[in-house]
This record gives sequence, C-alpha cells and structure tokens, in this order.
Amino acid sequence: MSLDQSPDQTTELTMDKAQPRLLDAMSQGLLGTRLSRPEGALKVTGRAAYAAEHLPDNLATGVLVRATITKGKVSHIDSDGAKAMKGVLAVFNGDPLVRNPAQGQAGEAPAQVLPEVHYFGQPIALVVASTFEQARAAAQSMTVTYEEEDAEVEPATASTVDKPKKSQSDTGDLEGALRDAATAIDVTYATAPHTSAAMEPHASVAEWKDGRLTLHGSYQMLKHNLAELADALDMSEDNVRILAPYVGGGFGSKLGIAPEAVAAAHAARELKRPVRVVMGRDQVFQMTLRRSETTQRIRLGCDASGRMTALAHEDRVSNLPGEAFSEPVAQGTHFLYGGENRRFTHEVARIHRPGTGSVRAPGEAVGMIALECAMDELAEATGIDPIELRVMNMRETTPADGLPYSERGLERCLREGAARFGWDGRRPAAQRLDGDWWIGMGVASAVRTNQMEESVARVTLQSDGTALVETDMTDIGTGSYAILTQIAGEMLGLPAKKVRVRIGDSDLPKSSGSGGSFGAQSCGSAVFLACKGLREWIADKLDVSPADLTLRDGVATGGNVQMSLADFAGLPQTSEGHVKPGDTADDFAIAGYGAHFAEVGVHADTGEVRVRRMLGIFSIGRVLNRLTAESQCHGAMIWGIGSALTEELMHDPRDGRIVNHNLAEYHVPVHLDVPQLDAILLEDTRDDQANPIQAKGIGELGISGAAASIGNAVFNACGVRVRDFPMTPDKII
Ligand code: MOS
Repeated sequence: MSLDQSPDQTTELTMDKAQPRLLDAMSQGLLGTRLSRPEGALKVTGRAAYAAEHLPDNLATGVLVRATITKGKVSHIDSDGAKAMKGVLAVFNGDPLVRNPAQGQAGEAPAQVLPEVHYFGQPIALVVASTFEQARAAAQSMTVTYEEEDAEVEPATASTVDKPKKSQSDTGDLEGALRDAATAIDVTYATAPHTSAAMEPHASVAEWKDGRLTLHGSYQMLKHNLAELADALDMSEDNVRILAPYVGGGFGSKLGIAPEAVAAAHAARELKRPVRVVMGRDQVFQMTLRRSETTQRIRLGCDASGRMTALAHEDRVSNLPGEAFSEPVAQGTHFLYGGENRRFTHEVARIHRPGTGSVRAPGEAVGMIALECAMDELAEATGIDPIELRVMNMRETTPADGLPYSERGLERCLREGAARFGWDGRRPAAQRLDGDWWIGMGVASAVRTNQMEESVARVTLQSDGTALVETDMTDIGTGSYAILTQIAGEMLGLPAKKVRVRIGDSDLPKSSGSGGSFGAQSCGSAVFLACKGLREWIADKLDVSPADLTLRDGVATGGNVQMSLADFAGLPQTSEGHVKPGDTADDFAIAGYGAHFAEVGVHADTGEVRVRRMLGIFSIGRVLNRLTAESQCHGAMIWGIGSALTEELMHDPRDGRIVNHNLAEYHVPVHLDVPQLDAILLEDTRDDQANPIQAKGIGELGISGAAASIGNAVFNACGVRVRDFPMTPDKII
C-alpha cells in the first residue's frame, strides 16, 4: 500500500483473515461507552427532517389508489371525474406504478398497461393534486372495474404448496429414533402474521433536475434501494440519488423500496415538478410486506439421560405465487441443539394475502417460539430442569455439517441469567397463587444467525484535525451515528465531538445498510479499516511502526515525537475501508446467543397474562455502544411481549384483506404492558471469526426466543400450554 502525502491520495485497506483485536489496544476510552446519539438533540427538537418533511417549491401530492378485489384484472379505471376535480394534476396507472417491488427482486413484476391484482389493497393507480386533501378526495371518487378471479387466501387449505428444495432435509432415521426414545414429544405450534409497525410511515419526495432524480425517502439499505428504484424507472443508477439521513424505524418494511417511492418518482418525472407520496397508516399495513403466519410441527426425542436423539422442525408459511421470499422458520433450529436423527421440511402455501417479507428477525422470531416452547415441553416430560436440558444438548460442532462454532455464549447466558433472575425460586407448574394471579417463570435460549455484508466507508482526517466519516449507511433508530463516531474516535484518538458522521446519502460509499442485524458490524468494520489506513499514514509520517503509534485527544505520539493531528502536513487525508463476507472465516458457524427469562401472572378468572419482569442476557462479541445496544434489546424484548400476547395481523377469511390496519387494532405492547426489563450484555466477549471489530449483531437477537420464555412462564404459572400465538385470554381460560 502506498502512503502518498498528496491530499488526493486515497488509501484503501481490505482485511486479512486473522485480524488482531486492535480496538482493545486503543486508549481513547470512547468505544463501548454509553455515548448518547449525536443527532439526538436534532431529533427531539424537530430539526431532523424526515422524508415527508422535505417541502421543495411547487410540491404536488400523490395519493395511492387501492384495489378492492383480491385477484383479477383491472378492466377500466374511470378517472375522468377525478381529473376534473379541483387541484387534480394527473392520474397515473399502469407500469411502472403497479410494480410491487419485493425485497431484492426489483423489476420482477411484468410490465403491463392495466394492472393485475394479486391481493386486496394492492396499489393500482396514483392521483396527484396540488394538495393532499384534493388528491385524496379525487382518489376516493374513482370508479374501477375489474375482471375478478377466484382466489385462495387460507394457507392451511391452499391448493398450491411449494417445497423449496434447499429447505428440506432428512438425516438418519427420525421415526425410528422417536420410537426408541425414552421420552418423545410431537407438538404443533402456530404463530400469527405480523406487520413491521414502524412509527414513521413510508414516505417519498421526488425531485428531478437535469435528468437526475433525487428521492428523499425512508429506507434501510440505500445501495439496494438505488438499484431497485433505477430498475423500476428503467434508468441508470448514476442518475438516481436517495437521501435518508433519518429513518423513523424500519423493522424490515423498508429493506426494499415500497410502491410510494416508484409512484412519487414516476409522477414527478411526468409532471416535471416535485411530488410527495406518503402512505396512510392503513396503506402501510396493506401495501408493505408482512410476516407470514406459520404452523410448525416439532418432534423431539431423547434417551433416559435427556440427551436428544431426534429433532424435527416442519413448517408451513405463505406468500403470493411466484415470490421468492419465504419466512426461514427453522434457521436457528439447524445449529442450536443436537439430535442425530433430524428432519426439516418447509412449505410455502401460495395464497393471495398481501405479500410476505422480512419483519423483525425473520426466521428466529417465530421459529424460536415453537422450538423453545417444545424444549420446555420436553423438559417437563423428562423432569429435567429446562436450563440443564438445553446445556446438555449443545454439541461441540453443528449437527448439520460439523462446523465449529465461533464465540458461543449460550451456556454462560443461561447460567448467569438464571442466577441474576432467581431461577432457583421457580416452582413446578400451577403452584404459586398471588391473590387472583397464578405466578410462573419461563426460560428460553436466544439465538440469531450472524451475517456480515459488504461495506465501504471513507474517513477523512481534515485540516483542522477532526475526522469526517462518510458512507451510505442508514440510522433506523438503532444508533449508527453514535457507533460510527465511536469507532472512528477510538481509532483516531479523537473525542466524539471531533468526529462528524455523514450517512443516509446514496452518493456516498456503499455500505451494508441496515437490516438483518448486520449494519453496525459491517459498516463499522469498514470504518475501522479506513481508520486503520489513516493510522498507518500518520505512523509513516512520524517514522514509527503503527504498533508504536499512540493517538489520544487529538495528539499523535510516536517515538519521541508528539504532534497535534491538525499540524500534519498533507491534510486532508482520506482512507477507504472495504469489507466483504468472504474476507471473514467461512468455516465457522457464527451466531449471537443469549437467554430470556420471564415471570408472568395469569389471572385465575379471566386468563389475562401480565408480564411481571423480564431479563435478557446476551453474548454478542464486542459491544460498540452499551446504551444503544441495551436500547435495542429492550425494544426487541418488547416485540417479544407483543408476539407472545397481543400482536396479530387479521385477514378477512373471504378475501384475505387485512382487517386491523391501524395501531389501535393491531396491538403492539404499550407502556402498561411492559414491566421492568433487564437487558444485560456480557462485557468481555469477542468474536474473532465474525469481522475485524469482533462484534456481532444485536438488534434481532433480543426478540429471538423472547416470546417463548413468556409462553413457558404461562405454562409454569397455570399449567395451560398454549400452542397458538399470541396467547390471548380466550386460549388460556
Ligand atoms: Mo430486518 S427484518 O432485516 O430490518
């Protein structure tokens, strides 16, 4: 690598497989601390502008029109009346408006003049007017005629069921092992469909200038969103820019672009003026991808000592015909516990409910409900303590392919969590009555696969000795601004206030974006490598080896020279860091681990469940920011309470439409539903196989297993085993 002194010179550093724990040798004392969000003040004072708050001159407003049938063709859209209404500028229908981009599948929908309808509520047209009220009134006045076709909407009875080949496996002799087992269970769990329920609705403001589109949007992964949008509009990516510096939550629903972005961009191009399209809350529920409902049959068998010999996880999920995504229900089950005779089957019912996609820990969020409640059932059937049963069934290598595990804190979390929670106070089922409430405790393992995604970041040491971090990373409420500040500050010996982070702009170097709990580790690794390049440049200037360089409080010390960073000749100096998945160890199973503990009260007369306290303890390698990491765990555990007790998207059995399409009727937990939550992050863990900063994902780990601990606590409280989630009172009483 050349370390030229010219300001234009960029050094690019990619990682080697074996990365030393360089961050542990730094002395700034910034990384891992509870640094508050640098952009927090802007957010709470309303100065951080979210997508819909961009109001360029001459802004027009579009409202999406929804299909009111489940399946068929639009034969005619009568828009003459609408076009004559006050303020109405245009009515658009047909391609590209009707494309319904799925996550990562830009442009797969066929071009057509009048749309085909695949689900009730699908966008079929856009009305644009000077004001929102005018556009909405015109949209409501339109008459649409359809050629309606029969549609199936029930996953259990669907006539078309796909079995993706890569998701089926059968090892050993499952039936024989179950027959010979000292104890065996065969149970079927069901989980409800979910919606992401981000606070900020999907919103886009599109502006064209000299053939280039700028879209202020609310999206999670800008490099993919850029590709999807360019593809939908049939244009070059170079002519599209997406800005999303602040995102009010995504939870999966903003991984891929949604209909409002294409609609706003298309309309703005045609009308030659800026157009804003914001989905109403009901539209967010109807038009963005939901999590599939699941049914999951679990069979477990063990010998007299509790050692598992058989494990089967067979599930059914749903999606629209032809869609590639299917909820990866058994993702965590594959590597968590032993049982040499194993079977996995995965079925996708093809139905015409709204499309399914990634929502808050796709796979484990619902798969771990069935697995971890079934483990509790096996513990109950064998009389073995649930924690001991789990620990004795951890194996040295992955059951599926014999891979070694990287850092695996599962046993430690189960045992430390048990001690902190007071697990030894647990009693057999239905033995603790407190007034009208049955009291019980439950435990579940937490596991979430860990991914690192390709990421590039640029860090510039400025002439004034401060640092500028630039990448197209997003902050979806997770704390990206804070942790990137901390990584750069730690590496360059700068306090937080001397690091500026610019993200959320697709013109900047392309990062992983936010999703799959890969954002902090992937983008953070790229920033780390860029800073490592700058350290080498500084060391070279001082004529010392990088190992002999100390950077602290803006001052570089090497050999017998001490120099302020602002005094180096050749500033600004830029360095780029680049990580890709293949760079890290590929012969390890890498996952985040933890344990959930819940104590509940079940009302003896009404069956109402109240969570009394909850503790989650997690092992995720290096913690980048204790405050934002704990906050993510709290949020995730709250989603666990939701999926255990209240959250349920309801589909009309006649046409599959979503009935409870608002936050009043789709019940996410509110303050009164949430008790004292303790989120504990193990301090001293590092995962050397995960990435150069030894950190793993945390966002989705906190939900994986959380609901199961509540289900197990309900059983322990009152002796009723509910296998249909959410566990509403009618299922308990
Ligand atoms: Mo996530 S469900 O990958 O935002």
